[in-house]
Amino acid sequence: MDRKHFLKISSVGLGSIGLPSFSPSAQKPIMVSTWDSGMKVNDAGWKILSANGTALDAIEAGGNFIENQNDCCVGLKGYPDRDGIVTLDACVMDHLSNCGAVAGIERIKHPISVARKVMEKTPHVLMVGAGAQQFALENGFPLESGELSDDAKKAYANWLKTSKYEPVINIENKKENGPFAPSFFEDGTLNHDTMGMLALDTHNNICGGVTTSGMAFKMHGRVGDSPVIGAGLFVDNEVGAATSSGLGEEVIRICGTHLVVEFMRQGYRPEMACKKAVQRIVNRDRKKAKTLQVGFLAINKKGQVGAYAVQTGFVYSIRTNNQNEIIKSKFLI
Ligand code: GLY
Repeated sequence: MDRKHFLKISSVGLGSIGLPSFSPSAQKPIMVSTWDSGMKVNDAGWKILSANGTALDAIEAGGNFIENQNDCCVGLKGYPDRDGIVTLDACVMDHLSNCGAVAGIERIKHPISVARKVMEKTPHVLMVGAGAQQFALENGFPLESGELSDDAKKAYANWLKTSKYEPVINIENKKENGPFAPSFFEDGTLNHDTMGMLALDTHNNICGGVTTSGMAFKMHGRVGDSPVIGAGLFVDNEVGAATSSGLGEEVIRICGTHLVVEFMRQGYRPEMACKKAVQRIVNRDRKKAKTLQVGFLAINKKGQVGAYAVQTGFVYSIRTNNQNEIIKSKFLI
């Protein structure tokens, strides 16, 4: 077979697995974030990205924005664990594979900024619990009140009626509430989770970050995928980056975002790379997969974006020079 003929066949074959068509023009800057709440998160990051700022600063700004909101699943106003304590997880990873994370940190408003400090000021990657809080205090983060927000108090009181410990997350409300209906627990309380963010800046660098209060009413000490590099977030500046939302245990089991990035390294487009990671979760236990949600969101070096989820309901927000919208993710089952 001559080389020209081989290349022709290759490109047909490669196209069929969803290889990106490598156009020279990367879509940058770009910021994508999980969920519809990612729109405002992207706004916060966009101010920085559109002024030629760094992806890392944009990610931190986006994280700080959502950490200030009254959100069920991010920041100190998020839902507590089953002991009534809000514990936060966060991480960042930059274009040089530097990373930092905190898990189970209490009474600190901006865990994503603490994660950045872990990355920049320590030789470590992950700090947990009291040690993470001590590190935060030493670095000037104020100690906040441990009081629950009004919404969290209500949700927790409701949950205490049964205290049913069931680590199920993000089974979307399938009632016809419109295309971007938020997900709810059966009692009507909101059940979205993690804020995962990815950005590609004008310097051609990719960075990601995640911030969350984790699964509502989790066991005290439980840590999900969000602060685990390779699970809730992975960045490889040569290839792309991925983040996840949903039931963290399932993501950790397959090193989900690392897997997505490795699929992109093999040449898959972001959406197909996410789909293949979702397939890994579903194939492990299809019956169980029907009871849970996981969504992956990925971006490649060209600024191409894709997502895939186990079930319907996962959405993400995208911001570029030409685009500022919420996109529904495809799903497997
Ligand atoms: N994905 C968030 C968590 O499982 O904690």
